[in-house]
Amino acid sequence: MLENKTVYLNGQYLPLNEAKISVLDRGFLFGDGVYEVIPSYYGHLFHFQQHMERLENSLAAIRLANPHPRGQWQEILRPLPDASQNQYIYLQITRGVATKRDHAFPENTLPTVFAMCSNIVPFAGKETGIKAVTMDDSRWKLCNAKTVTLLANLLHRQEALDRGGAEAILVRDGYVTEGAASNVFAVIDGILVTPPKGHDILPGITRDVILDIAQQNHMACREDAISLAQLKSADEIWVTSSTREIIPVVELDGQPITDGKPGPVWQRMDQFFQAYKQSLS
Ligand code: PDD
Repeated sequence: MLENKTVYLNGQYLPLNEAKISVLDRGFLFGDGVYEVIPSYYGHLFHFQQHMERLENSLAAIRLANPHPRGQWQEILRPLPDASQNQYIYLQITRGVATKRDHAFPENTLPTVFAMCSNIVPFAGKETGIKAVTMDDSRWKLCNAKTVTLLANLLHRQEALDRGGAEAILVRDGYVTEGAASNVFAVIDGILVTPPKGHDILPGITRDVILDIAQQNHMACREDAISLAQLKSADEIWVTSSTREIIPVVELDGQPITDGKPGPVWQRMDQFFQAYKQSLS
């Protein structure tokens, strides 16, 4: 089923194995593009406007004109997800195909637009929690843009896996930034804390939803820097993303977090989050 699902490429819906792009596409040659990952819960596009706003910011950050207004994006993407299950839309826009390989932006080039859907598979480690490992953040100063230039993130994730973890927690100048493909939350002295937005982190949509839920339910929370020392002694740690939702970290760099089990604040937040999702579809 995966092999021949319908995808969208430059104005056409076609089977995945017929979707082809040029080897001169700047996404392929330079990683010159941006992307979005938008959950579709039984056909409901989760926080679509926020995903579009982030897409607009990512495009502006790489100086690529948005090929479609929001309404048109919705028309393009809506036919893709299967409304009988939970899926996510992967949308990628690159600077298109130039006549030759040249670092400078090409003139009069149409962007390449590609979108496909995949099932959201419940993440195996969610109920028991995962192991995470910390490492120095090797990335650039454009982490707030969701660019396809993900090699540093891949190297971080792979290093985490090689060291027996499921996610890397990245640290810059002694302070936590985010995960290789997730945002980070910690419960410190009873307060839910997540690093503030800036050029060091992707402004995660899941992160924003969690902060809203915390506020609505009078759970103490704040956006603040988290030092590595604070992270190591936190009561709870979570990593969050559209595809894995809210995952408790129960072991950090080989040491258990509290009793090595998902904590009570996570349990509460996950229940609120699931209820919120259900209320939308
Ligand atoms: N990544 N930070 C990074 C570096 C990410 O790659 C992601 C998600 C997040 C969380 O953002 P959101 O809550 O909007 O999914 C934070 C997606 C899922 C991916 O690359 O597949």
